[in-house]
Amino acid sequence: MADPIALWHDEHNYFRRLLGLLHSQVDVFHTGEQPNYELMLDIVSYLREYTDQVHHPREDVAYTRLARRRPDLSLVLERLKQEHRVIARAGDTLRQLLQAVIGGAIVARAEVEMAAATYLVFYGNHIAKEEEDVLSRAAQSLADEDWDDVRRAVPAQNDPLTHDRTDARYRELRKQIALEVSVG
Ligand SMILES: [Fe+2]
Ligand SMILES: [Fe+2]
Repeated sequence: MADPIALWHDEHNYFRRLLGLLHSQVDVFHTGEQPNYELMLDIVSYLREYTDQVHHPREDVAYTRLARRRPDLSLVLERLKQEHRVIARAGDTLRQLLQAVIGGAIVARAEVEMAAATYLVFYGNHIAKEEEDVLSRAAQSLADEDWDDVRRAVPAQNDPLTHDRTDARYRELRKQIALEVSVG
């Protein structure tokens, strides 16, 4: 079986990469140019769909299990669970703003920029805290039965970004990733 900590860490790296792409669009605000709103929307939609529906529910189960084995970590783990709810809400707000802009509504640039920048800072800190405070402790303390529970938290499903490439959603994001691979 694949090492669950390695998979966990890989997912974080992948999310960081997507947040980095979102950051590069937020940077465009400073130049006065128009950011790629479709790309921004794809990234936030993906994070709403995959991270909030799959990655975070699995972590919530892992944190509940870990708190039982390491009561000294309970407060840190409860905070991280709370942050999952905050991230979902902040992502929803940002997605709605981006959908409004793309749909032609008049939305202040500063409002989109602020929502995106807040999301980035909060999300980046969240992942950093998990990497620093949780992953190695989970590796030490969680047993096979805990990991079985984590896996069962969400039914197995395909990553919507990489599974069906004909899916029109995430078109901008796939294009961007393909571009980076060909350059990089
Ligand atoms: Fe998390
Ligand atoms: Fe995470």
